[in-house]
Amino acid sequence: MSLQEQFQQIIEFRRSNRKFDPNVPVPAEVIERSLQRAILSPNSSNMQLWSFHWIHSASEKQKVATLCLGQSAARTAQELVVFVTRPDQWRARQNWHLSQVRKEINGEPTKAQKMMLQYYGKVMPLLYAADPLRVIAALRLTISFVGGLFKPFYRAGGASAVSVVTHKSCALAAQTFMLSVAAEGFHSCPLEGFDAKRLKSYLKLPYRAQINMVVAVGLGTEPGIWGERIRVPYEEVVEKI
Ligand SMILES: Cc1cc2nc3c(=O)[nH]c(=O)nc-3n(C[C@H](O)[C@H](O)[C@H](O)COP(=O)(O)O)c2cc1C
Repeated sequence: MSLQEQFQQIIEFRRSNRKFDPNVPVPAEVIERSLQRAILSPNSSNMQLWSFHWIHSASEKQKVATLCLGQSAARTAQELVVFVTRPDQWRARQNWHLSQVRKEINGEPTKAQKMMLQYYGKVMPLLYAADPLRVIAALRLTISFVGGLFKPFYRAGGASAVSVVTHKSCALAAQTFMLSVAAEGFHSCPLEGFDAKRLKSYLKLPYRAQINMVVAVGLGTEPGIWGERIRVPYEEVVEKI
């Protein structure tokens, strides 16, 4: 089977399943491999501002299922993974990137190395530094406005920008995870129906972290598929220019 056919098969195999077989455990390696693959997802500036919380123990799963409003996908899941955005980790990631670049420098830094030092040293704080008074957000908007007056310019966005940027990347990781679970022959269901406040405190997450989604995993059942896979027509959502 060609790579293209295999990928099509994985896409068709992945359905949101809401009732998992209680008698079929998911091998730990399936979750481990899928998390390793999720980590390879594209993400903004490679800052990797995410964390993945794998709930395996039966008693803990029960607690988390309650926080997922008792949804059947969560109640019957063999494994649960909570995908979380971690803008609070920006400084650690910045330092990690800077140390990666510095390790490579041998004598005078190259142009590319200087650019990387500038990017992670100066641009990242503009995007991610804690900003309770919205001063940096105002600065970002001003820079984008002035820079974009006469030419295309990156519109960094205001106070909600950090949330948007980190959620985009985290959702891509969740998608890679779910496709990987499908490639391993198991099923999943992404969930946004949860009590974000309680789930956040259950996971002891810091103030700036946000729950992106919970993914329930198991061997799906037929009753777990709630209907045909319907989508609006291709022409309605695709514009070819
Ligand atoms: C971000 C997100 C949140 C979702 N939340 C829930 C949820 O809380 N409960 C649920 O049963 N399904 C949830 N779903 C699953 C969708 O209903 C499902 O993906 C959609 O109906 C398309 O079906 P398919 O995944 O089988 O292709 C969610 C999906 C996404 C992407």
